Amino acid sequence: MVESRQDKRFHLGWFTYFGQNAWNDPLGSGPEPWTGELHLDLARAMERACFDYMLIEDTLSIPHAYGNSRATYLKHGIMVPKQDPVPLAAVIGAATRHLGIVTTLSTLVYQPFMLARLISTLDHMTRGRFGWNIVTTAENAAAQNMGLKELPPRQLRYDMADEYVDLVERLIGTWEPDAVIRDVASDTYADAAKVHELNFQGRWYSSRGPLTSTRPPQGRPAFIQAGGSPRGRTFAAVHADSIIASVTGIAGMKAYRDDVRERAGQAGRDPDAIKVLSLITPIVGETREQAREQYERALAAPGYTERALALFSSFTDIDFGQFDLDEPLPPLTTNAEQGALDKFCQTRPGEPPSPKTLRELVRDSGTTGALDLVGTPDDVADMMGDAMATVGGDGFLIATPFHRLTRVYIDSICDGLVPALQRRGLTRTAYGKATLRETLREF
Ligand SMILES: Cc1cc2nc3c(=O)[nH]c(=O)nc-3n(C[C@H](O)[C@H](O)[C@H](O)COP(=O)(O)O)c2cc1C
Repeated sequence: MVESRQDKRFHLGWFTYFGQNAWNDPLGSGPEPWTGELHLDLARAMERACFDYMLIEDTLSIPHAYGNSRATYLKHGIMVPKQDPVPLAAVIGAATRHLGIVTTLSTLVYQPFMLARLISTLDHMTRGRFGWNIVTTAENAAAQNMGLKELPPRQLRYDMADEYVDLVERLIGTWEPDAVIRDVASDTYADAAKVHELNFQGRWYSSRGPLTSTRPPQGRPAFIQAGGSPRGRTFAAVHADSIIASVTGIAGMKAYRDDVRERAGQAGRDPDAIKVLSLITPIVGETREQAREQYERALAAPGYTERALALFSSFTDIDFGQFDLDEPLPPLTTNAEQGALDKFCQTRPGEPPSPKTLRELVRDSGTTGALDLVGTPDDVADMMGDAMATVGGDGFLIATPFHRLTRVYIDSICDGLVPALQRRGLTRTAYGKATLRETLREF
């Protein structure tokens, strides 16, 4: 059948915090031990809803920014525990057939050869559905956990990461695509002429090669990135197959997408080869009132303000416990996540601070999405469709509101919102491609 209209479908991903999640939420599954089972259930539900990929975040220290202490984080289970996401990715890969699986691995801590082998292995194990969320790490404590004195400044982290990613790609490329022959008749596994030494000598990294892992199904795994600063955006535009936009409003989504597409063009890439997914935190209910009530109830939950302050302290390495809740914030900068700080403070670099009080900012931060998406599945699907039509593409990344993932929330999205999107022809109803990169480029 010939499509009579332009394809208006967009892509969907899910950004998932990888801690204990809602262990004390009335709608959560209770204080059960951490086994990864909740994320496995999420992956299965996402595959039923034909999502492009699930992204598992990771950080490498127990935060202590809030009150200069780990106490609040440990007490409430905020960004704690952090089990390693890689084994979970392998298990999810075995439990799914189509869903892309993206894990976060930091250029600051892995040795490039080991990372290249790890991501190549996962791409083999998932038959081409693996993606690497490239982060440079923004926590000073993480750098110290790895034996460094302190976190290098942002600019240097990105300069080093450019060389790092180049080396990883070259290591994966040491096996030509047709190097593996597996010919029983001639007793030949691989053609030695097609597996090369690299002898890479960079400014910060070096490696001899070849890689011990064979060329993965995608040629190289998909790369995902969330650059916020101008330097970070250029990094993302040069390397990523999909970029995460953490922005506010339809205008913010459009401006971010236009900007990274322009940077990609300047770097000689086809901007259409990059899918920019904006972070959203939809809350859907049977009725609008019910959805709004869910939102208000979460804001009124005991400990909400302290949890939110601690969370944003951890992203930004700034102690938000030091400020008066009923006063506006002073101008703030950080060597950690500047984008997250600006978004939380509702300001832009160089502009005066927001006149809102800290209490108001905390309230607004409950859903850190680009859009205010609270309503019935049909309401929210319409708002997402309208926003995407204005932005021009490419899709959304769901982030759990209040960072509290429950099975009730998973169902509300995968079996409530997504069918409403599908009925409007806005998202796919079946997978049409095999690998994550192909899935991202399907439309
Ligand atoms: C949705 C999203 C997910 C992110 N996940 C991680 C993560 O798991 N680990 C991490 O160290 N940084 C993570 N970051 C931080 C980014 O890698 C990056 O440092 C941040 O967006 C700020 O960009 P900038 O350094 O260019 O300002 C994430 C950012 C966003 C918006």
